[in-house]
Amino acid sequence: MRPEPLIELHGLSFTYSDGTQALDGISFQIRRSERVALIGPNGAGKSTLILHLNGIYRNATAVRVCEMPVTKPNLAEIRSLVGMVFQNADDQLFMPTVFDDVAFGPLNMGLGADEVRRRVTDALDAVGMAGLENKAPYHLSSGQKRAVAIATVLAMDPQVLALDEPVSGLDPRGRRRLIELLKSFEVTLLIASHDLELVLELCERCILIDNGRIIADFPARELLSDAPLLEAHGLEKPWSLRRSQE
Ligand SMILES: Nc1ncnc2c1ncn2[C@@H]1O[C@H](COP(=O)(O)OP(=O)(O)OP(=O)(O)O)[C@@H](O)[C@H]1O
Ligand SMILES: [Mg+2]
Repeated sequence: MRPEPLIELHGLSFTYSDGTQALDGISFQIRRSERVALIGPNGAGKSTLILHLNGIYRNATAVRVCEMPVTKPNLAEIRSLVGMVFQNADDQLFMPTVFDDVAFGPLNMGLGADEVRRRVTDALDAVGMAGLENKAPYHLSSGQKRAVAIATVLAMDPQVLALDEPVSGLDPRGRRRLIELLKSFEVTLLIASHDLELVLELCERCILIDNGRIIADFPARELLSDAPLLEAHGLEKPWSLRRSQE
């Protein structure tokens, strides 16, 4: 039996208040344990799409997550099941200390103090940021902010991870650590990224969007080998695939 879809989009369109149509009839499903990349040029609609998955933008008829429509009454549950890392880490960190930020989700889930402390320690350890617990998030470097933003989500132990440009700003060691961490998880993954080497390493499936529409939805290696298609949409074939085929 095929695993159940955890993310279901049926004709999702979205227009911002200034009239910009960011999404135009997007439909796809992501099943449990799939690792899917969302790629496309600047302004394609990747972030707008991801923001629909935990109800920052709500469309209850076009979006179902973990078998629930994204409605206001379902939001708390959806947000505990779907961990979302925003493109801008400053949107994610709002508490006075790193500890408080990472503890925020687990506390809201009603977990006890010892369990919360354990989750905070484990999550900061996993992203290489142990020891920063008492620091003010706004004093962190941008790469440290990114890593702590990822920890805030890991601490909730979500079923689905939706990551918007998760490695931008990370140094090579931080990037490698995150890739290995994500590889070791069982979770369902949707990653929007311009880092196509990361996509190739982590994701078996790749969805290319441009101008708010799906252009291609293929196995990642196949899509990322198609240089003309990638170039037509502002992207480049990853170096590792160029070398292996020269
Ligand atoms: N708050 C907003 N108000 C008006 N238009 C917006 C807003 N946010 C995004 N847009 C527009 O919506 C479109 C899609 O933007 P989005 O941020 O989803 O693209 P993206 O694929 O994530 O791009 P990038 O690769 O640069 O992160 C763009 O044309 C953008 O200008
Ligand atoms: Mg974006």
